[in-house]
Amino acid sequence: MQRIVVLTGAGISQESGLQTFRGPDGLWNHERIEDICTPQGFARDPLRVDRFYNGLRAQLPSVHPNAAHRALAILEQAGRNGDWPGHLTIITQNIDDLHERAGSRNVIHMHGELLRLRCTHCHATPAWHTDCTPDTPCPDCGAAALRPDIVWFGEMPYHMEAIAQRLAACDLFVAIGTSGVVYPAAGFVDSVADHADTMLFNLEAPSGRSAFDQTILGPATRTVPAWTRDLLNA
Ligand code: APR
Repeated sequence: MQRIVVLTGAGISQESGLQTFRGPDGLWNHERIEDICTPQGFARDPLRVDRFYNGLRAQLPSVHPNAAHRALAILEQAGRNGDWPGHLTIITQNIDDLHERAGSRNVIHMHGELLRLRCTHCHATPAWHTDCTPDTPCPDCGAAALRPDIVWFGEMPYHMEAIAQRLAACDLFVAIGTSGVVYPAAGFVDSVADHADTMLFNLEAPSGRSAFDQTILGPATRTVPAWTRDLLNA
């Protein structure tokens, strides 16, 4: 039984039409992280933060999973129904729902999800809906204390215990479409190096020495399906 953990970043959704955070047209070229992606930025100007995430949410209905998302979903399903002697876990840094819409079920969102909110009073995580505003009362406790259910800089990512367990048990760690500059995700490859093979699928080579055993450069919609096809036909 092969146990694969795949870490995805914004690059896997780029060919679906969602912007990455860094690079030529990255989101952080147009906004300052400290204004948008920190608890302090939200406290200073919640409406500005809401506008940013509502702008991303507004794109979701018109973007669709691409061949890379679908290839991972097919591999996971093949493991479930016995067509491939393996098990696939996706740990995603992405806040979009493209893995789920491609059919993946074993997905861990370590940076939260665009389509959820979180109550800072009772910690409920209600679904976001179009007429939510920072004044919308929490459906569970009634407090006007809802914020995007996104992990911001300076906050602990979600599900770190489950992530550590899967990393410790995997024999192949694959990163797809991530610049590898944000921890703790950027450190996952080092944490598995003593017991797993490692592969990076990315559009461009990482800056500096790559910590990965193998680096496959190119658009994920070409490189990832070729890899999963080889696994399924082995
Ligand atoms: N195919 C493969 N890789 C791609 C593609 C593509 N079509 N397009 C872009 N990439 C690569 C880029 O070369 C880059 O290395 O995807 C990577 C995207 O990097 P980032 O924009 O930094 O996104 P990510 O690594 O997911 O960012 C991590 O930073 O701002 C925080 O919380 C945010 O989760 C995010 C975290």
